[in-house]
Amino acid sequence: MVENKLRHLGVIMDGNRRWAKQHMFRSVMKGHEAGTDTFIDLCEWCENADIPYLTVYAFSTENWKRSQEEVSDLFALMRKFFVDEIHRCIEMGVGVHVVGNLSPLTEEDRQIVRNAEEVTKDCHKLYLQIAMSYGGRDELLRAVKSYGEDLLSGREALGDLTEEKFETYLDTAGVPDMDLVIRTGGDQRLSNFFPWQTTYADLWFTDTLWPDFSEEELHKALDFYRTVKVNKGK
Ligand code: IPE
Ligand code: IPE
Ligand code: MG
Repeated sequence: MVENKLRHLGVIMDGNRRWAKQHMFRSVMKGHEAGTDTFIDLCEWCENADIPYLTVYAFSTENWKRSQEEVSDLFALMRKFFVDEIHRCIEMGVGVHVVGNLSPLTEEDRQIVRNAEEVTKDCHKLYLQIAMSYGGRDELLRAVKSYGEDLLSGREALGDLTEEKFETYLDTAGVPDMDLVIRTGGDQRLSNFFPWQTTYADLWFTDTLWPDFSEEELHKALDFYRTVKVNKGK
């Protein structure tokens, strides 16, 4: 029997606003709130499935272009998660790691994020990366700039640059590449989701809107991943 070697799952949690519309809610935030509940459940489902690393797309660099009202409500919801729900991560043994460009956040929000990471630093059952104000192109640019500084200062030499070295400049330094990416909501694209880390990931798409995603559906995706690996003889 071929072993499920999936180490790192990426999830593009899409379809919250369509879900809110479908349920006749006047505010799209009802969809984002329901999506947050599904995300917390997902952590538990990943633990049940023995997946050690999970990365979720919570807010992209492009999402800053949404209405001011939606952006500010989304950040209020994220604050609620990082402050009021963080005990659930501690109870589940979920270590929180936020990746992305946090410079546009308020200092208060950055502090809330750092605190959530700090209070879950001894939680090792699931390594959770939350991509927040994250864009793959932005991550690569920030990595290049930071490497460039080390080059100019003489801390690095161009001849020593390898893929492994470059990876240490990424937000995900030290974390294994993604094996499988799930995108809900029907669209079949990556939307700037970790271009470096998903180079060899298998991709699984579903029309299900994110708040309706379930443990059963996670297992359909994991079965797909296993089938791909079996067919490749891995
Ligand atoms: C994903 O759902 C959540 C975020 C991008 C913050 P959307 O808000 O994109 O919902 P749809 O895709 O418009 O339905
Ligand atoms: C991707 O969803 C980003 C997140 C899930 C946070 P979007 O709804 O923002 O992506 P596009 O606009 O459909 O590509
Ligand atoms: Mg969307």
